Amino acid sequence: MYGSHEEAIMTQDDKKKAAARAALEYVADNAVIGVGTGSTANHFIELLATLRGRIEGTVASSEATAARLRRHGIPVYDLNGVGTVPVYVDGADEADRNLRLVKGGGGALTREKILAAAAEKFVCVADDSKLVAVLGKFPVPVEVIPMARSYVARQVVKLGGNPIWRDGFVTDNGNIVLDVYNLNLTDPAAVEAELNQITGVVTNGIFARRPADVLILGTDGGVRTIT
Ligand code: A5P
Repeated sequence: MYGSHEEAIMTQDDKKKAAARAALEYVADNAVIGVGTGSTANHFIELLATLRGRIEGTVASSEATAARLRRHGIPVYDLNGVGTVPVYVDGADEADRNLRLVKGGGGALTREKILAAAAEKFVCVADDSKLVAVLGKFPVPVEVIPMARSYVARQVVKLGGNPIWRDGFVTDNGNIVLDVYNLNLTDPAAVEAELNQITGVVTNGIFARRPADVLILGTDGGVRTIT
């Protein structure tokens, strides 16, 4: 019989899981850590559950993540009682080589941005399909106070964007989301600031002013870490 050697084929999900596993290295004993939202963060939660008792607890970036953590018996705290977190682990919809991100595909962008701001170290975990040369192919989610939806959409058009209302979706904060296509993100920090200046915007999913500190990508050849 011929020695047929089967190539290990990594699915996108395998890569997400590998990146999530590598992030465990950043989790110190007895710490309260920030936990993000999405399928990659969900892998991280499953792995955290195996460390039961090693961490003190978590702060969650969404109600969905909080519920999942609690189902695993992992304590979830209010950020106000915790102050800062030593590490925040979350996924991304897009990342560039300078660790700037687009996030919020799951609609949790505002709490994610708060956790990133309050974190000493932001570890982003993703499969390698998320790495792009220039951000902006993925539409930028913008969380908006409901009564400002149409006003904000008009201002976004003036910035060159094409806003699409995520109809039927309500954020954990009771707001709506506009997904903005066609923004020129060659200077993502500038666009992040411009969008946030529009009255009625809560925040947007560009993470350039506070980028990740570490980007862990699952690839066919193993995990690749960019700092
Ligand atoms: C949630 O609002 C997002 O910011 C997620 O972090 C992002 O959508 C990544 O999701 P996946 O890990 O499911 O790709």
